[in-house]
Amino acid sequence: MQTSQQSSARVGRQVELSDQRVVDIRPLERRDREGLADAIGRLSPQTRYLRFANAKPHMSSRELDFLVDVGRREHRALLAVDPATGWGVAVVRYVQLQTEPAVAEIAATVSDDWQGLGLGTAMVVQLIEQARDDGFSALRASVLASNKRSIAMLLHTGFAPLPSRGTLREYELPLQPRRRNTLNGYPA
Ligand SMILES: CC(C)(COP(=O)(O)OP(=O)(O)OC[C@H]1O[C@@H](n2cnc3c(N)ncnc32)[C@H](O)[C@@H]1OP(=O)(O)O)[C@@H](O)C(=O)NCCC(=O)NCCS
Repeated sequence: MQTSQQSSARVGRQVELSDQRVVDIRPLERRDREGLADAIGRLSPQTRYLRFANAKPHMSSRELDFLVDVGRREHRALLAVDPATGWGVAVVRYVQLQTEPAVAEIAATVSDDWQGLGLGTAMVVQLIEQARDDGFSALRASVLASNKRSIAMLLHTGFAPLPSRGTLREYELPLQPRRRNTLNGYPA
């Protein structure tokens, strides 16, 4: 049976959540810098800690510059916007690993009021497609072992645990290159 999370992920740039609210998904842009700073400021200390490994409410100017320095293979991010308010409510991103250029590391943040409704899962599914288009061979994620929701999201989207111990756990999703339909050697 298809869950609402699975079906919503395929809708593309609009996602219907399990509480019937709808959000728009689009690439994050540099012009979102201010809105992103505000949104991070509104996160609970717990969510900030789980995502950024600290609970400080404000990012430095340099950190913000990095977070919106996106839109190329090395660093891509998707933003979910609540059409009712125009506020950003979630961001998922990946950053290419310098030590393993064929691999990118993903991170996700859903605003507290929007967690547990399928949004993170739906956005990660879309980001996986982007990573495949970008030709990465794998996506990796590093999460606190206590972050049950994040781990459930990763397992649900196909990630598998890598051997790891301690408070941080690593998960990886190998990506197959997209297959082209061919007919006598010509694209079908
Ligand atoms: C982790 C996070 C991105 C997940 O996004 P989300 O929209 O809240 O999650 P979803 O609604 O898609 O649910 C993901 C999974 O968690 C499960 N879940 C929902 N509520 C849960 C809860 N309270 N406890 C444990 N699991 C829960 C869901 O059932 C789902 O599992 P399934 O796919 O097997 O059904 C989001 O909660 C978040 O931003 N958390 C704080 C920051 C963080 O932890 N980031 C990840 C590390 S970079």
